[in-house]
Amino acid sequence: MDWFAKWFNTPYYHILYKNRNEEEAQEFIINLIKYLSLPIDSKILDLACGKGRHSIFLNKLGYNVTGVDLATKSIEEAKIQENEKLHFFVGDMRETNFPNEFNAILNLFTSFGYFSDDADNLKVYQSVYEQLKPQGIFVMDFMNASLAETNLVEKEDKEVDGILFHLQRKTENDFIIKDIHFSDNGEDFHFQERVKAFKLDYFENLAKIVGFKLKRVFGDYQLNEFDSKRSPRLILIFEK
Ligand SMILES: C[S@@+](CC[C@H](N)C(=O)[O-])C[C@H]1O[C@@H](n2cnc3c(N)ncnc32)[C@H](O)[C@@H]1O
Repeated sequence: MDWFAKWFNTPYYHILYKNRNEEEAQEFIINLIKYLSLPIDSKILDLACGKGRHSIFLNKLGYNVTGVDLATKSIEEAKIQENEKLHFFVGDMRETNFPNEFNAILNLFTSFGYFSDDADNLKVYQSVYEQLKPQGIFVMDFMNASLAETNLVEKEDKEVDGILFHLQRKTENDFIIKDIHFSDNGEDFHFQERVKAFKLDYFENLAKIVGFKLKRVFGDYQLNEFDSKRSPRLILIFEK
């Protein structure tokens, strides 16, 4: 089984990252909506939505939102929040198929770069393109891989909810790899995250192949300009 199909569906993934900054996520959405001037009747797809933190907030703002994720457990939990303008589905971003359905598609918080075969990345871009209405917007929020590589912390221990996670990071064949070791209830666990360290030019090329126009590149959730040496994020705004 691929690492991402396994790890994201365990309770341990949610424990390790439970202190994610919700306020920051909401601030990003507010900034994005303002920049995009997205009309309130827009239909939005949150691709790789996890438990739906961005979807739920967008829906609270009044938008019609669909969230899709591969992790069945996350979608089960997100579904509790469903309403007539908020829906969640289990699905693979390589295969989601709602042709010509959305005004905007979001892929947030480094939910890309997981596949071992680069052809799958193109599949995602093609599928996103087909699901957008004409002039639809695709937002990709990826890590700034250059900065992540420069600042790579090789070893780190993190205790969350009484579990001591041992994290080890390295780069290998263009992937940033995080090994996660811990014990729980007397059992030893090992999971791995593998994210390909794509830079801006890779996304520009994918966009060109598919037919997207790259409109803007931001470097953080406050939507400051991207600077490969300093920006924490690489946020790309594409238009169909
Ligand atoms: C880093 S998390 C981000 C989740 C969410 N966007 C957020 O910000 O909370 C990455 C998510 O991508 C999902 N994912 C990984 N591979 C996927 C795929 N092939 N199709 C759909 N979702 C996928 C995982 O299950 C996980 O929920």
